[in-house]
Amino acid sequence: MMDLKAKIESLKEEALAKVAASENLDVLNQVRVAYLGKKGPLTEVLRGMKDLSAEERPKVGALANVVRDEITTMLEEKKTTLEMKKINEALANEAIDVTLPGSYVSVGQPHVLTQIIEEIEDLFIGMGYEVIEGPEVEEDRYNFEMMNLPKDHPARDMQDTFYITEEILLRTHTSPVQARTMEKHDFTKGPLKMISPGRVYRRDSDDATHSHQFHQIEGLVIDKNITMSDLKGTLEVFAKQLFGADREIRLRPSYFPFTEPSVEVDVSCFKCGGAGCNVCKHTGWIEILGAGVVHPNVLEMAGIDSSVYGGFAFGMGPDRVAMLKYGIDDIRHFYQNDVRFLNQFKVKE
Ligand code: DAH
Repeated sequence: MMDLKAKIESLKEEALAKVAASENLDVLNQVRVAYLGKKGPLTEVLRGMKDLSAEERPKVGALANVVRDEITTMLEEKKTTLEMKKINEALANEAIDVTLPGSYVSVGQPHVLTQIIEEIEDLFIGMGYEVIEGPEVEEDRYNFEMMNLPKDHPARDMQDTFYITEEILLRTHTSPVQARTMEKHDFTKGPLKMISPGRVYRRDSDDATHSHQFHQIEGLVIDKNITMSDLKGTLEVFAKQLFGADREIRLRPSYFPFTEPSVEVDVSCFKCGGAGCNVCKHTGWIEILGAGVVHPNVLEMAGIDSSVYGGFAFGMGPDRVAMLKYGIDDIRHFYQNDVRFLNQFKVKE
């Protein structure tokens, strides 16, 4: 009888030691089957109880049950520990290392000319102008005739033209959008105030300052009682916004067939402030656009009564504006799409 009790105790020690030594759930399960299973040693011992006296039998039976419960409890505890260990290992293996460098995503930005054009658009939209686009393949009628340049007009030579047919061409300037807009405008709905950005084409040989395709932004205001001083005030706001608050403008007499009087507009040099430097070619002034009071012929051809309505127009080159602003020495950079050039003009945050 002492034998049996001692055997149960030693089985218990053995089982608990194996439970403690189990390193994973599989091994632990093998230990459970080995000690508590139907063919395990504890069952074996219990079977031997039939040889015990009636007095001893319940005592050994009780001990066996206590030991069985103890082993079961230890097994459960170990199982929980091993499960936690497994989960923690999985978490550690699958964790994302946020300190690893991410993969590089290249972010583009609008072309530098698009940026300049949009800046100018925003400025004029803020002054109540509408942005209107016109076709690049244009009729001779709009590009020249309605801009007061009849077929034999000598000023046509100023703009070497790509003709598609005798009457169809690639527009040489954005001025035809003036005629297209005036033709359609309904003055009972208010004054006409528009700008028109876009591409224009000329039969020039490409070099540092010429491109057969470049950009212009046209401006046009038509209403009653519009004067030259409205033009000057508007262009002053424009120059200060684009080139700096200290800028001044000056108007010089010039000639365009579609305006009378016509002016060339200079802005005081933003680099030297007027003292003279390489940007302004030591004059203190930089020419930025052409402008004038809209010629009565242009109004009349578009169906507007020039004795009632009048206004001003201007035309500028955003390519030239961008070259001046950023000190770019070759217009061809804009059209070669070299990202090393383009990436220098990140949009301001
Ligand atoms: N169309 C002219 C050019 O291409 C620029 C220009 C000058 C436009 C005077 C105008 C203007 O509207 O009033 O050279």
